[in-house]
Amino acid sequence: MLLDGRRTLITGASSGIGKATAIRFGAEGASVCVNYYADPEKPDADAVCAAIDPSGKRAFAFQADVGDEQQVTAMVAAVVERFGGIDVLVNNAGIEKQVATLEMPLDLWNAVLRTNLTGAFLCLREAGKHMAAAKSGVIVNMSSVHEFIPWPGFAHYCASKGGLKLLTQTVARELAPLGIRCVNVAPGAIATPINTFVLDDPEAKHTVEEEIPLGRFGQPEEIAGAVAWLASDQGDYVTGTTLVVDGGMSTYPKFI
Ligand code: NAI
Ligand code: BGC
Repeated sequence: MLLDGRRTLITGASSGIGKATAIRFGAEGASVCVNYYADPEKPDADAVCAAIDPSGKRAFAFQADVGDEQQVTAMVAAVVERFGGIDVLVNNAGIEKQVATLEMPLDLWNAVLRTNLTGAFLCLREAGKHMAAAKSGVIVNMSSVHEFIPWPGFAHYCASKGGLKLLTQTVARELAPLGIRCVNVAPGAIATPINTFVLDDPEAKHTVEEEIPLGRFGQPEEIAGAVAWLASDQGDYVTGTTLVVDGGMSTYPKFI
């Protein structure tokens, strides 16, 4: 098993990529804190925990808004209290909403940056303190191909993921002497709730598929496998970089 005995925290883990990663981590022997955002997601988070370990020993759900400093501090403290430490953090929580830049309300800009970038910072700062004391740890940030592919209508989202690229590179340098790795995963188009607006529209779905050399959306489990590998000792010479898992989308198949 890749992650036997590892104590892990995955944000936004009640759905999509976070859920698949939590279940994969559990199958690889890890203990998992399944973070969820709000009350309506509690049943889904509980179901993820039950899938990991019906006895409840190796999994628990914790409600927190990753953009709220106090809630993040409480969540990391709960992981350390429950598991005795934290070895792996996956900053997965993220949001997006298509709006033309010139029409974008400041509230929406702030909400996306707060969740996608500030949330990752707060979680890695708090978890990183414990990892530094243990001189060991891995932080995986869920970035996107939009850390380097511009996407009209998603300036806030691209800014947040572009920000994650240099956050990760900088943190990787800063924390390497403390035995901590920091890596990004950049998925392409994956079939999860964040993409409902495309998946429910056959024409839009087809347009996206044409942008992907492998000709299909990825599955959340295909991202989970990459995260599990990076978080494990198999990935222990990988830090400060981005692993792209996108079916070839970033080869720009439509470019002639
Ligand atoms: P999703 O919508 O299923 O998952 C996002 C999760 O983040 C949800 O569970 C949501 O409740 C949670 N969340 C939102 N705001 C939060 C907050 N303030 N605090 C805690 N949790 C919060 O969608 P998906 O696709 O699984 O997204 C996961 C990550 O993957 C996101 O960071 C997204 O940007 C990234 N991603 C997704 C791609 C895709 O095509 N599905 C491609 C590239 C990146
Ligand atoms: C977005 C998805 C999109 C994918 C490829 C991701 O970052 O969350 O909505 O399909 O990038 O464009």
